[in-house]
Amino acid sequence: MKIAVPKESAAGEQRVALVPSNVAQLVADSHEIQIEAGAGEAAGYSDIEYEEAGAASVVERTDLLSQADLIVQVRGLGANEDAGRADLEHLRAGQTVLGLQEPLWAPELTQEVAAKGVTVMALETIPRISRAQSMDVLSSMATLAGYKAVLLAAIRLPQMFPMMMTAAGTVRAARVFVLGAGVAGLQAIATARRLGAVVEGYDIRPAASEQIESLGAKAVQLPVESEGAEDAGGYATAQGEDFNRRQREFLTEVLADKDVVITTAAIPGRQSPLLLETSMVDGMKPGSVIVDLAAERGGNCELTQADQEVQHGGVLVLGPTDLPSSVSRHASQMFSNNVTTLLKHLCDEGSFQFDVSDEITRDVVVAKDGEILHPMMREKLGLPETTTKAETAEAAEA
Ligand code: NAI
Repeated sequence: MKIAVPKESAAGEQRVALVPSNVAQLVADSHEIQIEAGAGEAAGYSDIEYEEAGAASVVERTDLLSQADLIVQVRGLGANEDAGRADLEHLRAGQTVLGLQEPLWAPELTQEVAAKGVTVMALETIPRISRAQSMDVLSSMATLAGYKAVLLAAIRLPQMFPMMMTAAGTVRAARVFVLGAGVAGLQAIATARRLGAVVEGYDIRPAASEQIESLGAKAVQLPVESEGAEDAGGYATAQGEDFNRRQREFLTEVLADKDVVITTAAIPGRQSPLLLETSMVDGMKPGSVIVDLAAERGGNCELTQADQEVQHGGVLVLGPTDLPSSVSRHASQMFSNNVTTLLKHLCDEGSFQFDVSDEITRDVVVAKDGEILHPMMREKLGLPETTTKAETAEAAEA
């Protein structure tokens, strides 16, 4: 298969979808790899390293895109609305695109790609099952985000994380609270502990308490019962307004003595739940720092503004959306490992098998031959349970 790796076009994106070590593995599997000149530069991988690994470097992006059987990107059109559309006219029926596509958040963008007859593989819909763990880009990127969020907070906090007994007196350890203990939250807890903070964590899923405690943090229990907090895929479910209101009431007390709050709560394909209202932030100590990792979906804190710094009553609220990209070298290495493992799973003798009896294939291939296949995407787009190519094209034009 001819695999193209374009330079990422989203503003500020520093990652690259395949790194040289994985290029060498794919070349050994009889794939032909073309990389856009300079694609790995921002992540620290030179064109020469790619060429040594067996890739050909291509200067013209349009040539690269039009010749490929498979285009591997970090951000496909759905995850790159501003700049991604420019590539659309160079795509053709029969090609496949693989990358982050936001199929449940911006399904209409994937629909535009699908309408060209391009097969769309979305990394967000990889099932949360053990055998797919090594292909799970959301997990690897969340790990990086959780780690970096704590570092950001540590830099901006006007005090240190560890307790220190010095000749100039004793300073107490920072108190960190992590709200949402999924992949990013658990990594944030582990990182804050490594830096010497006293850490507490909370998650709506009861199963998370044990994981929080296993990292040496205290699991906060709120006297409010969630209903069916976890779906079959392991994700949190949206709760009713009554639960949310009571949760906020109890959290207000928890926040009062904290120096750092990291929020990570997400519900797949939906706006992030609002966990910190402005009145709750009012009760926090001046100098405290909130890092809201849910900023891209509206944020867990009412004050959060994506990629902005907000000062409120002495509390700093950060809403970074590009943390994995800011650790571009390791982020690219992990992303590339995930993608390579996925490709090896999906391909046999150098071409895609599209075995629909396989759960991973079924979930990842969200559109094929002009049709939207993923059931949740179809629901979001208001498509009937089955559709025709003509319907997909019609809806994309509308
Ligand atoms: P996520 O990014 O969708 O959400 C982050 C966290 O926020 C989750 O732990 C969620 O329970 C929590 N949350 C949502 N609403 C909340 C609320 N109102 N209050 C407090 N917390 C709230 O989740 P992520 O990190 O993607 O993980 C979701 C689940 O999937 C976890 O159980 C994780 O262990 C599991 N998982 C399984 C994998 C596998 O088996 N291959 C791979 C990765 C994750």
